[in-house]
Amino acid sequence: MQIVSSIATMQRLAGRWRQERRRLGFVPTMGYLHEGHLSLVKRARQAAGSRGKVVVSIYVNPTQFAPSEDLSRYPRDLKRDLSLLRGAGADAVFTPDDQTMYPDKAGAAFSTYVVEEQLSQVMEGAARPTHFRGVTTVVAKLFHIVQPDVAVFGQKDFQQAAVLARMVRDLNFPVRLIVAPTRRERDGLAMSSRNTFLDAEQRAQAVILFHALRAAAAAVKKKPQPSARLKADLKKFITAAPLARLDYIAFFDPATLQPVTPVRRGTQMALAVFFGKTRLIDNATL
Ligand code: PAF
Repeated sequence: MQIVSSIATMQRLAGRWRQERRRLGFVPTMGYLHEGHLSLVKRARQAAGSRGKVVVSIYVNPTQFAPSEDLSRYPRDLKRDLSLLRGAGADAVFTPDDQTMYPDKAGAAFSTYVVEEQLSQVMEGAARPTHFRGVTTVVAKLFHIVQPDVAVFGQKDFQQAAVLARMVRDLNFPVRLIVAPTRRERDGLAMSSRNTFLDAEQRAQAVILFHALRAAAAAVKKKPQPSARLKADLKKFITAAPLARLDYIAFFDPATLQPVTPVRRGTQMALAVFFGKTRLIDNATL
């Protein structure tokens, strides 16, 4: 497994693989890997085929964190990540530093961003106004650096995948996006690097996100539900976990991300809940 930290070296390696007509699968990550990430690597390997190559990037992207967010406490363990990726059969890991991705030399500060203006405005985008600008910018940069044929993202970040699919379509990136299912802990909590911030009590109560998705699915299975009433019921349900602080619940059309009412089978639901300073998200098709 090759470990690459410079853009020129990564572009040369990707260029060589393209000349050898190898299909390139790519999994962008912010590291602190768990089984969910490894399932994305497996999916990229399948998509790349037996002659193909799989690249994983590990980069905690500062532009997608607001100043008030958890950038400095975002968990990192590169040694462990590399060992997991060796085991998962990645061919190369791209691990640039901030100076490489966002050079800030005197007189040449980074000043070009990629902004998606529709799908990025609701839910996570409303709660974290600069977040998606950072995601689309860094993923566009990574696509230019790694030049993948296929890139794999997790369904847990449903809105992120939708925004990136729109960016790929609008800006004609020659990349096929695959969205892979959310991996869950045994009790149903969606796997996330942020779960490591939870203390034992918070961790026990964090499963309320999954239970809320199930409760909503059960309610709409009986009959369509007015969005406002279902939201109010779920708010009560969630705040019965005393450490949970609801950020938002949204019911929306999975293609447009626009709110819908009544909520029916097939409607997409997403929610964000704080436990202390840790903000967890999850979503499901009801
Ligand atoms: O989903 C993530 O881990 C990040 O948002 C991504 C796509 C790697 C961009 O930094």
